[in-house]
Formats: sequence, C-alpha cells, structure tokens
Amino acid sequence: MKELLDWAESLQCAVGAFSVGNMEMVMGAIRAAEETNTPIILQIAEKRLASSPLHLMAPMMIAAARRANVPVAVHLDHGLTVDCVRKALGYGFTSVMLDGSLLSYEENVAVTKQVVQMAFEAGATTEAELGVVGGNEGDTAEHVITCTDPEVAADFCRRTGVDALAVAIGNAHGNYPVLPELRFDVLEEIDRAVNVPLVLHGGTGITDEMFRTAIGLGVRKINIATASFDAYAAAAKECAGKGADWFALSAACAEAVYRNVIRHINVFSMK
Ligand code: 13P
Repeated sequence: MKELLDWAESLQCAVGAFSVGNMEMVMGAIRAAEETNTPIILQIAEKRLASSPLHLMAPMMIAAARRANVPVAVHLDHGLTVDCVRKALGYGFTSVMLDGSLLSYEENVAVTKQVVQMAFEAGATTEAELGVVGGNEGDTAEHVITCTDPEVAADFCRRTGVDALAVAIGNAHGNYPVLPELRFDVLEEIDRAVNVPLVLHGGTGITDEMFRTAIGLGVRKINIATASFDAYAAAAKECAGKGADWFALSAACAEAVYRNVIRHINVFSMK
C-alpha cells in the first residue's frame, strides 16, 4: 500500500480504498480500477468478517489483486486484535490497520508499535488511527467524534513508525444524518505536523468538493464502504422486485458497486 500512497503523493491525488464483502463487490471494484487504469485498495474490516469470513475473502481478494492489470493493495481495515492482523498478514495482505483509537494513548502507541513490527517483517504497510472517527464500522453504537490533536499526532507517528495515519476531523462511518462540517483547519495542522500520508475514513456522503479540499491538504487514502453496500442492496432489491434470477442479480450487484467505485475514483484522481 505504501507504493500506492507514494504514487498518490507524487500526483497530489488520493487512492480509493473500497470495502468489499463478497465476490460481486470485488469484481465491481476491480473492473472500475482497470477501466480507469487507476490503482485501488481492496479492504475489509475485522467486524465484517462475521458475515464475510477471512479464510474465504482473503484468497479471493488477493487473487483478484494479483490478476488485475493495475496495482491493487489488499488491506485489513479496522483491525481490532493483533491476532486478526497476524492472520491477514499470513494470507498475504499488503497492508493492515490496527484501530487503537478507543484505547488509551499509551496503549494505542504500544499496540501500533507491535503491529508496525509485524507488518514490517511481512513486507506490509501499517495504518493507525488517532482521535475518534464517528459512527462505528460494522456496529450500531455511535462514537462521539474527537478530533485528532496535531501535536499528539506528531508524537504518535514518531514513536510508532506507522506508515499512514487515519485522522478524525469531524468525519464518521455510515450515512451522515446532515452534511458533516469537516475541520480542514485541523487537517492542515496535522499535515504540517506529521510526515506520513493521511487517511480519511467515513467517505460515504462527503461531497466531491470536500474530497478535493481534503486531498489538497494531504489526504492520500479515502475509505468508501457504506455507499458500495447501499448501492449493492438497492440493486438487489430492484432485481428481487422484478423477479430476476440469480445470474441477473449477481451481474446487477457487481455493476452497482462498479458504478459507485468509478464515481469515487474519478473524484479522487483530481483530474
Ligand atoms: P463509510 O462507510 O462512511 O464509507 O466509511 C468507510 C470507512 O471509513 C471504512 O473504514
């Protein structure tokens, strides 16, 4: 993933990190990447493994990435346990995130350092999170947003050696009830304080203009999950309403994810 983040830095754009939960989602995302000739990140969060088990998802995601005719990184999103990170690295994921954002600061530093070392030994990239992004990946419980403190971010990056940092600037996972007010002033300070690429979670519902502003202020990876899951579910419902068979349903769901991914790729490429 580090290579893709460096690529994004050189072009002053961002790499889309698209969450997937089954074969159609993987196929839709890869098709969008290939058609636009743009690298992407395929990712899955630890909490999603309850419905999309790692032992099935990992080989499929990695096979799709290897076969793609553009660079594709395979990433563990919101790893919650060191055990899951270890398993993902064992399958050949090229990057992992350990989300210690709800731990105490010192605990977050300690566990992130451990994961950075494990990932380094596997030749993989590490993402961590500081501050608290709203909502919750794969859970109904809401977290109160706590913006990332730029000075603390600098200390965190120095002490952990992490490759990419997920920031909290008013962003949240899931659909926003109202348009979020992202703290671009805080983002600018974080970008000045740290020397690693920044990651924006909670991409669903953020406007194209906000994406462009965030990219202009150092965001190099943007996560999109809910928009793809919602597009998939809407396509499935439409097919069910028409009495479509499985083959038509599978194609329509892959197509819905493809359209969502391509839409975001076009914005993130800053062309
Ligand atoms: P959304 O579900 O809001 O797109 O957030 C995705 C994300 O940040 C996954 O980590």
